Amino acid sequence: MSHIAVLTSGGDSPGMNAAVTAVARSAALLGASLLGVDRGFNGLLGKNPETDFIELSLEKALDIADLPGTQLRTARCLEFIKPEVQKAAADLLRSKDVTGLIVIGGDGSFHGAQALCHQGIPCIGIPGTIDNDLAYTEMTLGFDTAVNTCVDAVRSIRATSRSHDRPHVVEVMGRHCGDIALMTAASTGAEIVIAPEAKHWSVEEIALRLQSQIDRGNYRSTIVVAEGAWEIMKPFDYYGFLKANGVKDVYEGQPINADLFAKVLKYMCSMPDNSHPEVRATVIGYTQRGCQPTARDATFAFEAGVAAVRLLQHGESNRVIGMKHGKVYDIDIDKALKAHRPFQRSLYNTINAL
Ligand code: F6P
Repeated sequence: MSHIAVLTSGGDSPGMNAAVTAVARSAALLGASLLGVDRGFNGLLGKNPETDFIELSLEKALDIADLPGTQLRTARCLEFIKPEVQKAAADLLRSKDVTGLIVIGGDGSFHGAQALCHQGIPCIGIPGTIDNDLAYTEMTLGFDTAVNTCVDAVRSIRATSRSHDRPHVVEVMGRHCGDIALMTAASTGAEIVIAPEAKHWSVEEIALRLQSQIDRGNYRSTIVVAEGAWEIMKPFDYYGFLKANGVKDVYEGQPINADLFAKVLKYMCSMPDNSHPEVRATVIGYTQRGCQPTARDATFAFEAGVAAVRLLQHGESNRVIGMKHGKVYDIDIDKALKAHRPFQRSLYNTINAL
């Protein structure tokens, strides 16, 4: 009988549990036993021999399918970049008679899987991250749920923005990828979107866009900002600017964030009566990660989990599951990690042009 192990790694993403359940159901059909690894690659460091490996019976796995988060828990394991740690992890897996490992996580986790493959452990990856930043796949597990969470939040924000005639800055996650911001903006009718892929945007340019909305009679624009965009904002002395406008709760060297940005926009723009618009800010944050998967993510989780076990059963290794032309497929990890992500620039420009 073969022994499969499964771990979840990196930021948790909605659908990770559903994928583990699909793995468990497929493994049970094949008569393979399943071990869950606790806290991602940390569980392969041999630090907690009693608790790092959990027997995942079908019954246990069935119980977690609909739960948010990841029951196996997760971590970002920086130690795993060391070759000696990778070798020790492979030895540990061999000592447990593990014949194949399924890694559910983002690109960092795939690098870990790649390393274990080089150490002789067959690995298959499932793209579990809300960021949608893996170029080889049309969707990553959790992205759809994260977008829908943001859409719900922005709809509520737009309702109160309308009630008060106030523009609103909304920050969403995504690391260096603007897809969550872009899809959220497109599906809510947000007037402005800022993504890290649109290099070197400036606060003055966004203020002009906001002013142009106000001049057209729209006093309640939504400005959706991808968190990674703060890093590529053109230099601007917002501290000096806000101080000069009498704002007290700012200090020099403070990193720009949604709240400060909203304050800068306030003082750069004016309403028809020459007052400044009351620009508010909301950071959606971890609600994007910790909720139940949408049907789309749960379906992908199911198909990806089944495909991963099938690949191991056929003796495959060093492959990752993805979505291409709407269908689940698999590709070599090395190729997947080299793929270049196209940015949906025309959608981006269209949102910002209206
Ligand atoms: O990769 C998923 C993600 O939620 C990113 O969007 C975000 O930048 C990051 O994780 C936050 O990571 P952490 O919770 O470890 O601070």
